[in-house]
Amino acid sequence: MLSHIAAASSRCLRTGLQANFLNSRSILSESACRNRLSSLAKPSQGKSSLLSCVRCNAQKLLRGSSSAAAEAPLKGQKVVGSWLLTCAGMCFGAVVIGGITRLTESGLSMTQWHLVKGMKPPRTDEEWAAEFERYKQFPEYKFLERDLTLEGFKNIFFWEYIHRMWGRSIGLVFALPAIYFLRKGYISKAMKPRLAIYGSLLVGQGLLGWYMVKSGLKDKSNEHEIPRVSQYRLASHLGSAFILYALFLWQGLSHILPPHQLPKTRQIALLRKLAHSSMFAVFFTAISGAFVAGMDAGLVYNTWPKMADKWIPSDILAFEPKWKNFFENATTVQFNHRHFAEATGAFLLGIWAYSRKVPLPPRARMAANALAAMSLVQVGLGVWTLLSFVPTHLAATHQGGSLVLLSFAIWLTHELRRFPK
Ligand code: HEM
Repeated sequence: MLSHIAAASSRCLRTGLQANFLNSRSILSESACRNRLSSLAKPSQGKSSLLSCVRCNAQKLLRGSSSAAAEAPLKGQKVVGSWLLTCAGMCFGAVVIGGITRLTESGLSMTQWHLVKGMKPPRTDEEWAAEFERYKQFPEYKFLERDLTLEGFKNIFFWEYIHRMWGRSIGLVFALPAIYFLRKGYISKAMKPRLAIYGSLLVGQGLLGWYMVKSGLKDKSNEHEIPRVSQYRLASHLGSAFILYALFLWQGLSHILPPHQLPKTRQIALLRKLAHSSMFAVFFTAISGAFVAGMDAGLVYNTWPKMADKWIPSDILAFEPKWKNFFENATTVQFNHRHFAEATGAFLLGIWAYSRKVPLPPRARMAANALAAMSLVQVGLGVWTLLSFVPTHLAATHQGGSLVLLSFAIWLTHELRRFPK
């Protein structure tokens, strides 16, 4: 091991190999090495620099890197990053398609779930008729869709089918390259367990989707109850999709974007904390939005900023026990989402205002600006969706907007991340 460390360090000293070494972040980070090399130009610092090179490499070899990407072998870094970003993009697509599926009331049209057999849609007239007959047995048709024709059924079936097939394709786009990259040795040691977690989350996402759909297929307890999926399950399904997306995006960025060596100032430390909080604020607001969507609570008060002519509607705590209002009373659920969203919007603008005072590299500055601009767009889209009684195109854009906002929060946090030791 010692000879390995010494060899790595002496490589650092040889300027002939400088370019090679600077390119490889597997042992020393790029700018750390550059600093060491420049300090070697001064003879008085040469010895201590060599020692710190040795110490740094020894720590790396003994402890392992704090970042999976920093530890990954150079070969394949970029391609692994592009693959992870593609998976993130596909999760984004799944969220948007899922939103359209829900908004077009298509989500309960497929009443069975099978991983392989479910991939074959009905083709003949007989198969379509049988599928439609099966759908008629479930509460949504009985309560809501009595006028639905076979053609109409084919339309709603289309969105649910696309959503499920898209989910399966994410599985393939994730799993096949993962196997290939593992065999090629492109995946670092630290990345391996993470890939196992992402794979499990993907499987869990599909199962959770079916668990959610099942809640909309069961018979209703009374005739006034509207057949729809449980808002708790919808929020979990959406929340886990956001988490999966965030993980892919973060890791993809880590493989592609070299980290900045930011100064260790209090301003940067505070901005870093604020950026971390921004991700959680957006996520939390999005989950509260999922409750609005799950209960069609966007249709109970369609005025803004007041709800009808009140700041606090009178039925806000109508249910007993009181905690139920936060999850099951459409008025409270909408009230919460609007105010969480406004607070989040203000918080993001506050972060931007603070970031103006902090010297930042251009990429980080761009991320802060993008986050602030998107917060205005997203709040505007939410208000517009509400005032126009939740039309599909606006509601789907608002949902996609929440992921864009989360992406910018992740990007900013990523730009400010600590330099891997
Ligand atoms: C930070 C800002 C915001 C974020 C991150 C956000 C996020 C979300 C999310 C994720 C959904 C669920 C979409 C779905 O599952 O289909 C949603 C729904 C909704 N949001 Fe927001 N939202 C924000 C701001 C607002 C504002 C300011 C309003 C209005 C005052 C608003 C009104 C709505 C409405 C009415 C829905 C239900 C739409 C539907 O039924 O599809 N949102 N929001």
